[in-house]
Amino acid sequence: MTISPELIARATELRDLINKHNYLYYVTDNPEVTDSEYDRLFAELKQIELDYPELVTADSPTQRVGGQALDKFSQVTHALPMLSLDNVFSADDFAAFDQRVRDWLNTKQTQRYAAEPKLDGLAISIRYEQGILVQAATRGDGAVGEDVTVNVRTIPTVPLKLVGDTLPDVVEIRGEIFMPKDGFDKLNQAQLAAGKKPFVNPRNAAAGSLRQLDSKITASRPLAMYCYGIGEIKGIPAPESHSDAMTQLEQWGCRISPELQQVEGLQACLDYIDYLGKKRDDLPYDIDGVVFKVDSVALQQRLGFVSRAPRWAIAYKFPAQEEMTTVEDIEIQVGRTGALTPVARLKPVFVGGVTVSNATLHNEDEIRRKDVRVGDTVIVRRAGDVIPEVVQVVLSKRTEPSFQFVMPNVCPICQSEVERTEGEAIVRCSGGLFCPAQRKEAIKHFASRKAMDIDGLGDKLVEQLVDAGLINDVADLFDLTVEQLASLERMGEKSAENLVHALDNSKHTKFARFLYALGIREVGEATARSLANHFLTLEAIESANEQDLIEIEDVGSVVAHHIVTFFQQTHNRDVIERLIDVGVEWPQPQKIESDSKLNGKTVVLTGTLEHLSRSEAKEKLLALGAKVAGSVSTKTDYVVAGRDAGSKLSRAQSLGITVVDETTLIDWLK
Ligand code: IVH
Repeated sequence: MTISPELIARATELRDLINKHNYLYYVTDNPEVTDSEYDRLFAELKQIELDYPELVTADSPTQRVGGQALDKFSQVTHALPMLSLDNVFSADDFAAFDQRVRDWLNTKQTQRYAAEPKLDGLAISIRYEQGILVQAATRGDGAVGEDVTVNVRTIPTVPLKLVGDTLPDVVEIRGEIFMPKDGFDKLNQAQLAAGKKPFVNPRNAAAGSLRQLDSKITASRPLAMYCYGIGEIKGIPAPESHSDAMTQLEQWGCRISPELQQVEGLQACLDYIDYLGKKRDDLPYDIDGVVFKVDSVALQQRLGFVSRAPRWAIAYKFPAQEEMTTVEDIEIQVGRTGALTPVARLKPVFVGGVTVSNATLHNEDEIRRKDVRVGDTVIVRRAGDVIPEVVQVVLSKRTEPSFQFVMPNVCPICQSEVERTEGEAIVRCSGGLFCPAQRKEAIKHFASRKAMDIDGLGDKLVEQLVDAGLINDVADLFDLTVEQLASLERMGEKSAENLVHALDNSKHTKFARFLYALGIREVGEATARSLANHFLTLEAIESANEQDLIEIEDVGSVVAHHIVTFFQQTHNRDVIERLIDVGVEWPQPQKIESDSKLNGKTVVLTGTLEHLSRSEAKEKLLALGAKVAGSVSTKTDYVVAGRDAGSKLSRAQSLGITVVDETTLIDWLK
């Protein structure tokens, strides 16, 4: 069969592209494409070479590992090469891998694998002689890496000396250097405060930090390491399984992933993928998949290698959290408090498990700093529940002419002038409640789940109601009739009745919810709760002055000022009065027993509770004056650990925080 010239040209193009991206990624730390785009190019080339083996060339990136070492660090030849991993992206492909392993071993028996997170950092090999750290090298091209010994020595989790009695004469410890998420956030805040460019993601930050010629800079960066393998080992017998190797490493004082597990058979592997996928966002560091390794070293040796990767291991990749797409437009959204937010309208892209077509550009400063322009190719990131973000423009793909984005001087909705407060990045529409956008947002907020929780009153409907002139403020909602609602487009009689019913139900609420629903600037759920618990009645809050308000925890002078100003406005007082008149009511909160053990304490709930739902437990804790936090820090007083508690529990233990079980919690709540 003859090969078409197009295909030959494509293979050449792919080879050049991948080699270029390898260089940008490994050598300059300045990638132009996301990992997933790179994986796709690689997969395409691999497929072509598989279909037409005559197209494989000696310089094809499929035939060697990674890129070259930087010449600013001296070079190190690894005693044993540092390999790469093949990837799979679906359960079916994983099943095919498992089948291949069993076919190769000529067995029908289920396989035992070691399963662990695929950490998103950089591979490192650290050589210990007689237990002393003598050299640390990056992976480089797998055979030769860069000598980063002085930098690695600065990483607190890397032992400078191994501990224990059974130390080998020589051991190369392999692992991943990464930057935990909280450290990354802090580093980026500091970068911004110093007028420096923030890092795009924790992986880039870790790579940039490790490749510093000045090790003092590395020392100031929050790097960590987990070990996941052993290279050369001399003087003691090599471990018989991956799990044994990990236990041995722990005994020598190295850190290994707490998520490491032995799993047997296909189903257990798929369950582990599911388990870790669900946990991904809660882990304190970025992972991009799961690595499975045939546990037995004897079997690993029988399986061997193919060019760049072992046959006994595979990486199951999770959906990418970064993707590339283009900015089709930049629009301005006007928020509840009048803030003008630029939003990028994107060519829809599948990232972080969902299709994303909008990403906030935050404010004028941000848009200027990133210099995002209409037509630009950008990298979009969506991790967990976090709002999708444009992290970087791919400048090399910008086509001329392109124009810097300019914030408008008038509100795009009501044409009122915009106001810029000195020292604030945000510009606001000065139209107040005259601006339909602000009115709509205030009503959406009032109806939202954590506020008045009006079932069936979604964002679209609020827009329709305001546009049709049926409502102007939140009090108008309660005068709506079934006939008026039923006259709206896409609204039947039944839905109209349901909505009137839901509006009626929502009148019986809680004081804190009502306060939050009012949409006072800077008054979030927690502040609303503190206000309700402290003042107990609306009258008390209305007549409080700034001094009275500052007494409350969480309320500073800015918030106090916003609260006082809110209640001074006749319009706001009028709306509140009308709400009370139509029957909005709440039971008066109980004064918190200050002798409760939980008063003022910060509690974190983790794992599955058997007798209480999360929200019940939270409500009860709040009612006793406790704060309920989402993550464990040194400020945490108690961690309540239910079934299958994971990283939060281990973090609590490592910080020496009191951990209690559900029974104790129920006891306390009595
Ligand atoms: S094992 C022979 N385990 O993934 C197997 N690698 O794509 C060699 N990585 O260069 C690697 N977490 O930087 C292994 N738990 C883990 C890993 C892991 C992250 C990285 C490592 C390697 C790359 C291979």
